[in-house]
Amino acid sequence: KTVIKDLFRNQDTYTDQKVILSGWVRTVRDSKTFGFIELNDGTFFKSVQIVFDDQLENFKEVAKLSLSASIRVEGQFVLTPQMKQPFEIKAEKIIIEGNSTPDYPLQKKKHSFEYLRTIAHLRPRTNTFLAVFRVRSLASFAIHQFFQDKGFVNVHTPIITGSDTEGAGEMFRVTSLDLDNLPKNDEGKVDVSKDFFNKETNLTVSGQLSAETFALAFRNVYTFGPTFRAENSNTARHAAEFWMIEPEVAFAELPDIMDLAEEMVKYVIGFVLENAPEEMAFFNSFIDKGLLERLTLVNEADFGRLTYTEAIEILKKSGESFEYPVEWGIDLQTEHERYLCEKVYNRPVFVTDYPKDIKAFYMRTNEDNKTVAATDLLVPGIGELIGGSQREEREEVLLSRIEEIGMNMEDYWWYLELRKYGETKHSGYGLGFERLIMYLTGMSNIRDVIPFPRTTGNAEY
Ligand code: 4AD
Ligand code: MG
Repeated sequence: KTVIKDLFRNQDTYTDQKVILSGWVRTVRDSKTFGFIELNDGTFFKSVQIVFDDQLENFKEVAKLSLSASIRVEGQFVLTPQMKQPFEIKAEKIIIEGNSTPDYPLQKKKHSFEYLRTIAHLRPRTNTFLAVFRVRSLASFAIHQFFQDKGFVNVHTPIITGSDTEGAGEMFRVTSLDLDNLPKNDEGKVDVSKDFFNKETNLTVSGQLSAETFALAFRNVYTFGPTFRAENSNTARHAAEFWMIEPEVAFAELPDIMDLAEEMVKYVIGFVLENAPEEMAFFNSFIDKGLLERLTLVNEADFGRLTYTEAIEILKKSGESFEYPVEWGIDLQTEHERYLCEKVYNRPVFVTDYPKDIKAFYMRTNEDNKTVAATDLLVPGIGELIGGSQREEREEVLLSRIEEIGMNMEDYWWYLELRKYGETKHSGYGLGFERLIMYLTGMSNIRDVIPFPRTTGNAEY
């Protein structure tokens, strides 16, 4: 059996050959004695043109096919250099496998992404989403390949956890208790000892703390799994369920993992450009005109690097009127991040050494005692793509930081033991996979790079 992707890629070898295709009807046009079908078989985001005529014994049924009917076509491959389509299939036989009904929502016209989100069970049948989700699959493969080639061990960290890695309190609670009939203790509070795990548990916001334990055994590890955040931010860049890649490297300091992150991003870009050239050209024509130029440039220059303090100076002197006022100590907002990478650098840029008060407890305190050895990678069109740091390996410093923040020390006993038993410098980062896909495809809303997005108020499917 032939697949459409192969027809497009190896047109010469198919010239005048007999082919057998199976797929779904995208469009049908017919006149009295002949007609055309655009057929997609899922192997490629493009469709092939099938020409049929009244020689077919079932000509009338074929001409009346509803969109998305599944059919099997036997016919001859012919090059059509004088036409818009490079080739077509002259059908000798068409078998109707499963017809469709005329109310099929994806009729031939341009549908908005907003509308397509309401039919997420059908939208993968469109060119754009066939391209997006193929690139998503390739990028996932590329990331595994990148780390596996370097000897990193992939560690599967738990989805249900008892700790809050980021300390931001944006977790989804997991419970086996009957919410209509909650067991209460003497103080009138929920009796968590009656819950499945005998304690409070949540969906993980990051696999980092567990990954650190493996890094201190395997040296180089990475996670690649789903993470969950109950952030109430209704933006085009936040999802409640997203996938994160978190490498963790023993004996590494901050600049080492910045090098790793830069190499990884460049590798993935190179991989999708090489393995999905047609999809990437499609995004460049229909989604984001500057995409290919931007991605090609990325692989030609080093990423920018500057400190948070330098970034604040640049933003203050920029003369821009930002919505959120700039002063040392603020958490950089997307508008600031995008100004830095788009207007100042015009390429991805690492910002390092953020104030410790706006960052997580595990980040290594710098000499100045005001900043931490943290980095965010900011990329044009998106803002923050990666967040990472060197980890605080000094037990006393970590202890006083946990105390300072007022975290519950007991929950972290195992994490603290890592500092006791052969403390080792180590560093890592987290890459938001969906943001990477947005960056690679030019898609501007995170809802359009996730098969079934989970955002505020939306858990359909
Ligand atoms: O910066 P974050 O919060 O870092 C961590 O979770 C660290 N534990 C990572 C580490 O050092 N191992 O998240 C990392 C990345 C962000 O840069 C962003 O790309 C993505 O995860 N991210 C989100 N993506 C989509 N929706 C959300 N709600 C996201 N929150 C973070
Ligand atoms: Mg971050």
